[in-house]
Amino acid sequence: MAKSLKILFVSSEVYPFAKESGIADVSHSFPLSLKDFGHDVRVISPKYGSISERKSKIHNISRLRDVHVNVGDNLAPVNIKSSSLYSPRHKVQVYFTTNYDYFEERLGIYHDPVTWEEYHDNAERFIFFGKAVLETCIRLKWIPDIIHCNDWQSALIPALIKNGYSSKFNKTKVVFTIHNFYRQGAFDLSEFKKTGLPNELLDNFEHRSKFNFMKGGISYAHYITTVSPTYAKEILDDYHYSNGLNEYLKTRLDNFTGIMNGIEPYTWNPKRDKLIHSRFMDDVEEFKYNNKTQLQKISGLPIRPEIPLFGMIPRIGYQKGTGLFIDSADKIFKEDIQVVLLGQGDTDLKNSLLRIARKYPKKLKVIFAFDDNLSHQIEAGCDFFLMPSLYEPCGLNFMYSLKYATVPIVRATGGLKDSGIDIDADNDNGNSIVFENYAVEDFTNAIFRAVNLFKKKSLMTHVIEKGMQHDYTWTESTKQYDQIYRNIMKEL
Ligand code: GLC
Repeated sequence: MAKSLKILFVSSEVYPFAKESGIADVSHSFPLSLKDFGHDVRVISPKYGSISERKSKIHNISRLRDVHVNVGDNLAPVNIKSSSLYSPRHKVQVYFTTNYDYFEERLGIYHDPVTWEEYHDNAERFIFFGKAVLETCIRLKWIPDIIHCNDWQSALIPALIKNGYSSKFNKTKVVFTIHNFYRQGAFDLSEFKKTGLPNELLDNFEHRSKFNFMKGGISYAHYITTVSPTYAKEILDDYHYSNGLNEYLKTRLDNFTGIMNGIEPYTWNPKRDKLIHSRFMDDVEEFKYNNKTQLQKISGLPIRPEIPLFGMIPRIGYQKGTGLFIDSADKIFKEDIQVVLLGQGDTDLKNSLLRIARKYPKKLKVIFAFDDNLSHQIEAGCDFFLMPSLYEPCGLNFMYSLKYATVPIVRATGGLKDSGIDIDADNDNGNSIVFENYAVEDFTNAIFRAVNLFKKKSLMTHVIEKGMQHDYTWTESTKQYDQIYRNIMKEL
């Protein structure tokens, strides 16, 4: 059997403790899968004020007292606590680095939950986090073979282990996964000195006159991945949405690849899901009927099982296609349909959504929140799931939709292009309605196609039943990561 590796998975969001995007789900499901492969994997994340110690069974680790890190002139105390992730098969240890001023005191992850403004000191918060992660390993006397970092919030770590922490981590290798190339953690250049890294390294972080965490991750990680093969191609070419950082990523082409995320087979399982009204007992129609009428009831829409119900769970910003939905609304709502939209984000877009909901009160319900429980009910209750994304690195909700007997409507971009097979283009394998252009006409046509499909009950059931059988577990992707870890460990 291959040697078990010590792997530390570093993430700013870990389900079920804190979730704002799919990265939280990956930080739960992927470590559990690595455990299946026999690795000694542990997870580390900040402890935000919104995480309840009692509910999450978090305890102090008494050995880890009196730890401090420098963030600029601030000598910041690090508190380290612990809890676990569970699957029926395994348990994975989770460490929480915490500090009252940076994390404990706040309810949001990156934004103030009321005003939705980004915290002014996000650079400091995640400089603190990066250093606290390494101090935790040292105090635990557990030096990982692999540190797997995710997105800009942990992108400082590869530079730190080569500078300042190199004696302890000289054998450790770093994989850096990009879940969203648009959000790069770009701050005023003056923030760089708070990292304590020598000023001559600034070049490896500076992009367009900003201190860019993501660029640092790309510069120093031993290997870089992103979360689907198509997104990997797209970000190399996309100057616009990468703000020009794609050119820099090209310099690491030999150490860069796209690997599709998987999903956890127990958390998103309609036969076991305790968060939905009615579990799946082998009858698709009954499962959908019960959950759909429940969703209509709780969202305050008329209970009308005979018309198609669409769900959408975006971060309300331009990435997930909320703008396209808004621009298409008057056309879409000429049809006898309903939409439930759950999400949180930009104030202007939320105001536009509210205006549309007031205009079509029996057709559209918008709920502004991150609500994991409700998101399960939406997946179980709607007939179609809308993902009209401008770009989509992976798009886990596509996979959740198929598992929950819901037909996704997706734009052919990123991970959605890899998973989505249009039902008209391929009668045998089609699993979704796919449209090409980010344009009102294309999107509304896709909705009209859905309305027609809904009328053809037996075809719709056929599409759904085939989709439900697809295997979206991590096994294949974990094999690829396992190989990457082993390859970089051989390099000097
Ligand atoms: C980000 C991406 C999403 C992806 C998730 C997990 O939230 O926007 O497409 O599924 O990360 O990788």
